[in-house]
Amino acid sequence: MAVFDPKVATRPPPRKVKVVIRKYNPETGKAWWQEHEIETYRGMTVLDALLKIKEEQDHTLTLRYSCRMAVCGSCGMTINGTPRLACQTQLAQVASNHNPVVRVEPMYNFKVVKDLLTDFTEFFEKHRKVKPYLIREDIEEQENPKLEYRLTPEEYEEFYQYSLCIACGLCVSACPIFASDTRFLGPQALAQAYRFVIDPRDEGYKVRLELVDSLDGVFGCHFAASCSAVCPKEVDPAAAIQRLRSLLLKYRLKLFRKKINGPVEPLREVKEKVPLPGDAQTLDGVDLEALENQPVVIPVEILSK
Ligand code: SF4
Ligand code: FES
Repeated sequence: MAVFDPKVATRPPPRKVKVVIRKYNPETGKAWWQEHEIETYRGMTVLDALLKIKEEQDHTLTLRYSCRMAVCGSCGMTINGTPRLACQTQLAQVASNHNPVVRVEPMYNFKVVKDLLTDFTEFFEKHRKVKPYLIREDIEEQENPKLEYRLTPEEYEEFYQYSLCIACGLCVSACPIFASDTRFLGPQALAQAYRFVIDPRDEGYKVRLELVDSLDGVFGCHFAASCSAVCPKEVDPAAAIQRLRSLLLKYRLKLFRKKINGPVEPLREVKEKVPLPGDAQTLDGVDLEALENQPVVIPVEILSK
């Protein structure tokens, strides 16, 4: 999985970095490498570097980004040969004084629209195919809910990791199977299929299991695990695919029994005072009694102890 090393990420990048960008003009069909030299600063990300180039050297440079904080999943690109989020990648992680060069290309396994901008149409078609939402048999109950579907913390924990996917496409870009077989659903869609199959609130597991039961589905995966190696959210799609395979075999053998949580009455607000657990711990000087009844301002001296 993509490991964030704070020691590497916080060191200063080389003072000057050469950024080599793969440009593509859809009007002429021409692709070429273009070099830019930029002055850097501590904390500069690859996205910052590209935006500086766009502002000062090449206004035509085309890329997609939005949140700048590894949440929206839109700035995926190939940086020094590895799929990464440009906003999450410090220049210091990919350039050194010994080799102050960064090569930036669009993500592999995606059609290029222009320069670093890739087309996600097929990606989202596959995502939609696995029905990445809760399916209930009682449509009326789902569309006009009077009750609620509840999860225990333990049930939530089972699929929490897989629900962290930001649909950035890095796993698909790294997948060697996807590179040679575009019918393959790919690691992102399969991981989302697994996430909903094991959700106890969902009743659509049969349709999803049947959908992934093919060479275009879970049996297309050769378990290279490069998807998990590049995932910025540690979703681990390779593990999800293996687990999905195992569920599928149980399902084929009629051994898969899924626990479904039925709708229950919503929790009601109680005005009673809820006691803190006996072993509750807090910082010295914080009054637990007061904490139960009103917001507490914690003095800075206590926090810095
Ligand atoms: S599984 Fe990870 S790499 Fe793949 S789309 Fe989701 S967040 Fe991105
Ligand atoms: S800009 Fe949103 S993930 Fe990078």
